[in-house]
Amino acid sequence: VDPVRLAGELTSKLSDEEFKLLSAATTQIRRFESIPIEALALRSGLPRERCLHAVEALRKKRLLRFSPGGYALTMLSLDTLALHLFARERMIQRIGPSIGVGKESDVYEALTPTGSPCALKFFRLGRTSFRELLRKRSYGVSQGHKWLSMSIQSARREASLLGYLEGFNLPVPKCLGRHLHTILMEMKLGLPLYKVKSLDDAGQILLNVLSAIREIYLKAGLINSDLSEYNILITPQHEVTLIDWPQAVKVGEGGSEPAIRRDLLNIISHFKRKFGVGADVSEALRYCKGEIEGVRVG
Ligand SMILES: Nc1ncnc2c1ncn2[C@@H]1O[C@H](COP(=O)(O)OP(=O)(O)OP(=O)(O)O)[C@@H](O)[C@H]1O
Ligand SMILES: [Mg+2]
Repeated sequence: VDPVRLAGELTSKLSDEEFKLLSAATTQIRRFESIPIEALALRSGLPRERCLHAVEALRKKRLLRFSPGGYALTMLSLDTLALHLFARERMIQRIGPSIGVGKESDVYEALTPTGSPCALKFFRLGRTSFRELLRKRSYGVSQGHKWLSMSIQSARREASLLGYLEGFNLPVPKCLGRHLHTILMEMKLGLPLYKVKSLDDAGQILLNVLSAIREIYLKAGLINSDLSEYNILITPQHEVTLIDWPQAVKVGEGGSEPAIRRDLLNIISHFKRKFGVGADVSEALRYCKGEIEGVRVG
């Protein structure tokens, strides 16, 4: 069963006390691997008896689990609480279909109360490594806890970078809000480049991508540093959007030069391999850094 859909159903089945307790628990993720009942009681403000009652109810719904010395949150708890908070703010009304599964996230369409579609990105850090660990049967509670806080951190980072980029009118999605490990973004129409089979104007599109990288570099001083055919959306009008920003680096920061070179190499070699058009990486680099005014594509 789809965990996000399950989380959506759970949001309507929780009592106020259960939500209070769950929220209290999320404030303790960074402090405790396993959250002691005393901390839950203190943070939620619930009398100990009510607290135990809520804990038990949450445990039955698989939103808390026993862990040595206390209770641990799960990814399902974070999903449920994030959805609840977005719904309470009237930011989203309904969850639509899954629109993308990345290495470290699940992205869904969500509808606002007025019916306009948005993109809802749930960070899932450690998903791949967690599978590794499961295979080796050596994972412990600390893993779960660590990945939950890292997922929250990544969401916080992407939300703040997108918020910063918003001021420059650049081809990136606008971030509408964040709760915990989940960000709500403007829905950008278009197909990710890796799904595009053929292009009659591949050269022009490569140029559009390079010019987007240049604009972001020159206006905002940022480099995506994870750019590939998975993180570029192409609209039917052949405009481009660059997505997936949590790992972006500032121009001039350590590693920023190799990062932009790698981004360009990824994109240019993808176009070369798939569409037979390319550009010289060093020339593209000078173009994106504003050292020259144009770049030859062919
Ligand atoms: N704002 C958006 N508008 C439309 N679609 C989006 C948006 N954000 C993400 N998507 C879709 O969801 C997919 C995954 O998103 P994103 O690249 O941000 O996640 P990711 O998990 O970081 O991916 P990666 O595998 O590169 O780490 C994208 O390829 C795209 O299809
Ligand atoms: Mg991606």
